[in-house]
Amino acid sequence: MTGAGISAESGVPTFRGENGLWRRYRAEELATPRAFRDNPTLVWEWYDWRRGLIAECEPNAAHRALAEMETHGEDFTLITQNVDGLHQRAGSTRMLELHGSIWRVRCTQEGTTWDNYEVPLSRVPPTCDCGGLLRPDVVWFGESLDPNVLRAAYAAAERCDLMLVVGTSAVVPPAASLTSIARHAGAYLVEVNVQETPLSAYADEVILGPAAKELPSLWARLKNSL
Ligand code: OAD
Repeated sequence: MTGAGISAESGVPTFRGENGLWRRYRAEELATPRAFRDNPTLVWEWYDWRRGLIAECEPNAAHRALAEMETHGEDFTLITQNVDGLHQRAGSTRMLELHGSIWRVRCTQEGTTWDNYEVPLSRVPPTCDCGGLLRPDVVWFGESLDPNVLRAAYAAAERCDLMLVVGTSAVVPPAASLTSIARHAGAYLVEVNVQETPLSAYADEVILGPAAKELPSLWARLKNSL
């Protein structure tokens, strides 16, 4: 399971911590259904800025290590809280995006979704052919996660033998509860993070260090024992 920290070394800002987005921006003004109702232009300007920033970033060695792991594991699931699409760009396919994707838009009238990679957007806020307002297909505060994605994530957590928890503050539910499900189901929990988190006390191993360095070396060790 991954969080914003895995993309930090690619240049994508994390949410919490020193230079985190939530230090500079108020989540309730930018990442809630109400914020979008009140000021869709402001919300889209923020997402347009983030899309532009992410478009300049490349997947790093940690994304690539996970993409390679997928090709070796019989039953491998990548659960990510990230919306940046860097896992796909590194080659991952067996993925569950808990919080959606910044590269997908959804029509607020029809509910249809599709990929949109236009950077910067030619029109803010963007609209659908039907005239409806488009929104980013991400999960905002106060919204439910896609039940199908969530069900698949819980099922993967229940059956896993090894859970790697990489670059997440491990505080935002329900992603945070996936680690305890895995632990109670008997999984071996390994955390990779630059600092300790609430999960560290329960993890079987805590690897303190940057993901782009630690994950490839962890994978090299694992691969040799397969
Ligand atoms: P956070 O910003 O909360 O946490 C990032 C984590 O990555 C922290 O624990 C850092 O210590 C760690 N970290 C930073 N750089 C790292 C590096 N190079 N290598 C390894 N770890 C590093 O991000 P998330 O846990 O992903 O939700 O946040 C979860 C959710 O909260 C996000 O998906 C977003 C946010 O509000 C929504 O927008 C719904």
